[in-house]
Amino acid sequence: MGKTIVTGGAGFIGSHTCVEMVEAGLTPVIVDDLRNSEERVLRGLEKIVERTLPIHRIDCGDADSLDKVFEQEKPTSVIHFAADKAVGESVRDPLKYYSNNIGSLFTLLRVMEKHGVKDLVFSSSCTVYGDTDQLPVTETSPTGAAASPYGYTKVVCEQMLRDASAADPLLRVVMLRYFNPVGAHPSGIIGELPIGVPNNLIPFITQAAAGLRDRLTVFGDDYPTRDGSCIRDYIHVVDLAKAHVLALQWIAEQQAPACEVFNLGTGTGNTVLEAVHTFEKENGVKVPFVIGPRRAGDVMAMYADTTKSREVLGWSTKLTLADALRDAWHWQQTIAADKASS
Ligand code: UFG
Repeated sequence: MGKTIVTGGAGFIGSHTCVEMVEAGLTPVIVDDLRNSEERVLRGLEKIVERTLPIHRIDCGDADSLDKVFEQEKPTSVIHFAADKAVGESVRDPLKYYSNNIGSLFTLLRVMEKHGVKDLVFSSSCTVYGDTDQLPVTETSPTGAAASPYGYTKVVCEQMLRDASAADPLLRVVMLRYFNPVGAHPSGIIGELPIGVPNNLIPFITQAAAGLRDRLTVFGDDYPTRDGSCIRDYIHVVDLAKAHVLALQWIAEQQAPACEVFNLGTGTGNTVLEAVHTFEKENGVKVPFVIGPRRAGDVMAMYADTTKSREVLGWSTKLTLADALRDAWHWQQTIAADKASS
């Protein structure tokens, strides 16, 4: 297999995917302007894989710069991670999300077309399913009623890819719908780097446990679930990363045009309170928390049917929520140690 452009390769899921790609003998070429990451991620990545990786520090929505990268690197495939992903921010600034997320995919498809690159793996999200009571969700569950502008950008991007692939029989596309990616590399060298106050549960838990936040607020304990808190499908980022390698390999084997979507979750839902208690048990630390009101836009429960990913890609998760919470804590401690020594 030739080179693979990895847009957003310095991000949380992108960096872990680059590790798995190198370990599988693939050749990632990172395209990332680090607007949502840091140099340390690149250094960490190279430390884990024990080699330097090509990185182009450009905005992947900048067609001229992206064109030059394709000219120079001559890739045969692309994984497109680069996108804005903060649900709350997307409500406050929807045009930023429509512009960046949809614009960058549009630019990428144009550049791929120009250079005859036909294989694409796209980062989508379970948010495309919106609020549903048909659980677990399968790839054929209804989509399109997303709960936020961010979610709608994924709905639109998926449709753009379906339309582009219907028009170009040589295009081979895999869309991966992530559930809740959590954890960190077990080495403690790379992990999630939330900017400012974390929006997502697990980074907030680790920061509250580390004393960086007074307490976690659990958003609602009056949902009709087993303990009243929301249910999500938390998937270890390393398991998620491995699915990208399998998706690329699967695409390369296809003789026919393809535009397929896969759920990437564990298939198991856990409540917020279960995540808190599992974290405490696994790491032997307390998470200070209070129960607060529901958060606007939250769905009560979401978890994946993973039959298709298992049967078609041969993928299944190997790591548990406890593994993810241990690795997330390890990563939090690495960040703290780095801060203390700098
Ligand atoms: N939660 C809390 N307290 C917090 C943060 C989160 O109780 O401080 C709860 C939420 O209410 C929710 C659960 O923890 O029940 C998970 O929340 P996250 O913010 O970690 O994740 P979401 O499920 O809201 O969002 C994730 C991804 C989005 C994606 C969405 C689709 O972050 O990119 O799933 O449902 F769009």
